[in-house]
Amino acid sequence: MRAAARRTRRHAAARRPRRDVGREAADEIEGAEPFVLDVTDPGGLARLAERAGRAGTLRAVAHAAGISPTMADWRRIFAVDLVATARLAEALRPLATTGTAMVCFASMAPVIARVDPAPDAAAVLDDPLGERFLDRVREVLGPAVEDPGAAYAWAKLGVRRFVRREAVRLGPLGARVCSVSPGIIDTPQGRQEAENHPSMAALVERTPVGRSGRPEDVAAVVGFLLSDDAAFVTGTDVLVDGGVCAAVHTAT
Ligand SMILES: NC(=O)c1ccc[n+]([C@@H]2O[C@H](COP(=O)([O-])OP(=O)(O)OC[C@H]3O[C@@H](n4cnc5c(N)ncnc54)[C@H](O)[C@@H]3O)[C@@H](O)[C@H]2O)c1
Repeated sequence: MRAAARRTRRHAAARRPRRDVGREAADEIEGAEPFVLDVTDPGGLARLAERAGRAGTLRAVAHAAGISPTMADWRRIFAVDLVATARLAEALRPLATTGTAMVCFASMAPVIARVDPAPDAAAVLDDPLGERFLDRVREVLGPAVEDPGAAYAWAKLGVRRFVRREAVRLGPLGARVCSVSPGIIDTPQGRQEAENHPSMAALVERTPVGRSGRPEDVAAVVGFLLSDDAAFVTGTDVLVDGGVCAAVHTAT
């Protein structure tokens, strides 16, 4: 009962984008103003796009908002991690211009789990803004997708696939988009997952660089992908996992 109550509190917290987090981040950037929204709210995304358009040229978007398996049920995980990513990209697309760059957050989860969709599943996954998306996901992947861990891996695979299609749309505008797939990173979300899945400690043990990741490890890669130094990089994923996927999948 206590665990269930804890989970319910976590679920509620995961649904609330925190105003103080936005304010703290904005305080670190000169001239920045926070704009707090729930990324699953299409009205909020439209207001964000309108505000960004008024502010000037859209240069860089780092889309880190996301939830993990212990935070919600399978439907909410798909809605926040995949559907909202596609909606955000759709809302910002009219602002894309020469030099615009976007990074979406995926995960190493589909790599570790070796998630490999059959063609019919891939077709559904590649249509996150289609009608009855969640029902179609359930139909094509079966009841196993109701497990939050499975849903998370599929949703994040959807993000990795989404940036490939989005890159093709953005290329003619002079804009780019990539995803990053973090490994085990020491953030509130990473710590919550580690608390609930003792197997994650074994993965850290097997990580070739010998530690879990720091937020700065991921931020540095995102910074590069958003910079002009990455002008020839688009439509791809960058795994930032300290080598753990290589360790898990490579016989030595
Ligand atoms: N930490 C890890 O080990 C890890 C591993 C793989 C992938 N990721 C991914 O990296 C990204 C960043 O994760 P993090 O570790 O910083 O997580 P975090 O939980 O520490 O931060 C995620 C942020 O997203 C916000 N958010 C959640 N739902 C939202 C919604 N509906 N609308 C707006 N904001 C919302 C939360 O309020 C929070 O501020 C996420 O997409 C996560 O899935 C993290």
